[in-house]
Amino acid sequence: MSEAAPSITKELFGTLEDGREVYQFTLANAHGMEADIINYGGIVTAIRVPDADGASANVVLGFDSLEKYLGGHPYFGAIVGRYGNRIAGGTFSLDGTTYELARNDGENHLHGGEQGFDKRLWEAEVVDGSLHLSYLSEDGEEGYPGNLEVAVTYSLTDQNGLKIEYEATTDKATPVNLTNHSYFNLSGDPSTTILDHVLTLHADHYTPVDEGLIPTGEIASVEETPFDFTEPQAIGSRIDEVEGGGYDHNFVLNGPQDSLRTVATVFDPDTQRQMQVLTTEPGVQFYTGNFLDGSLTGSDGTAYQRHAAFCLETQHFPNSPNEPDFPSTILKPGDTYHTTTIYRFSVRE
Ligand code: BGC
Repeated sequence: MSEAAPSITKELFGTLEDGREVYQFTLANAHGMEADIINYGGIVTAIRVPDADGASANVVLGFDSLEKYLGGHPYFGAIVGRYGNRIAGGTFSLDGTTYELARNDGENHLHGGEQGFDKRLWEAEVVDGSLHLSYLSEDGEEGYPGNLEVAVTYSLTDQNGLKIEYEATTDKATPVNLTNHSYFNLSGDPSTTILDHVLTLHADHYTPVDEGLIPTGEIASVEETPFDFTEPQAIGSRIDEVEGGGYDHNFVLNGPQDSLRTVATVFDPDTQRQMQVLTTEPGVQFYTGNFLDGSLTGSDGTAYQRHAAFCLETQHFPNSPNEPDFPSTILKPGDTYHTTTIYRFSVRE
């Protein structure tokens, strides 16, 4: 069957303080899926997908105005970089030089610093039915070495996947770890929690953390722990046993790194909406919105409460620049960083 190319429309979303315009792009495919994405932060502001009755609803947390995004939020839908997740003490050494990064999470560096990629205006171009975003992160930005040319391409697949391809090149060796920070609630009703969503995570191991959520360096088995989602489990089934109000941990994904494989499946028993996550990455941060406290509200006025959504942030492991035994996150001049993640939606059979 030949497929109609997804359509992309563009409209003004808002204007930054310095006068630069922010656009919202709506990607739509022939199967009833739509994604709204703005070029500020590369933020996915909405993903609309059908349920078992064909009823479409938005399954991510987000806002309908630029002001709300500028007002501060915990990375809703954003592209996170230059280094997604934490770097202990905001420092690392590379080729004999010690680098000091912004410390924006206690004493640690989180999600690229004060002005990470989530707060940058990206160049946007529609290419062959895809939204191509690019950004030059200059040498020294947030303390990182090297001019990093970053490109993120969003597209919709025929199987109702939001496909995200990340690319980067640099002129000095630098850590790079890019991800998307969408918060999902597959019910389409974020006034409910995701505790009854059922998760399967193909991860036999995870990286235990200290009080600052920095991995201890150990690669621990999930067996007989609340981190065991190798068989389908309700997210809430053992969440009370997890310190810190829920999951906020990096899981070590099974299967060969660098090959695009299904690493997670989540479904909502009420609507039967299901999401599969495919990635080339070795890890995923499973975060259950523990720090949401109802102070942010969505477009329809719904307050986003604790556990209103979950994130599956595909990534390399946190603090890898300080953990020589973790898969390397160092990009060298002449090499190209390239990872792919797909969030694929369906209705459970
Ligand atoms: C982190 C959480 C953090 C959240 C929002 C997640 O990736 O692991 O600790 O609160 O992002 O910033």
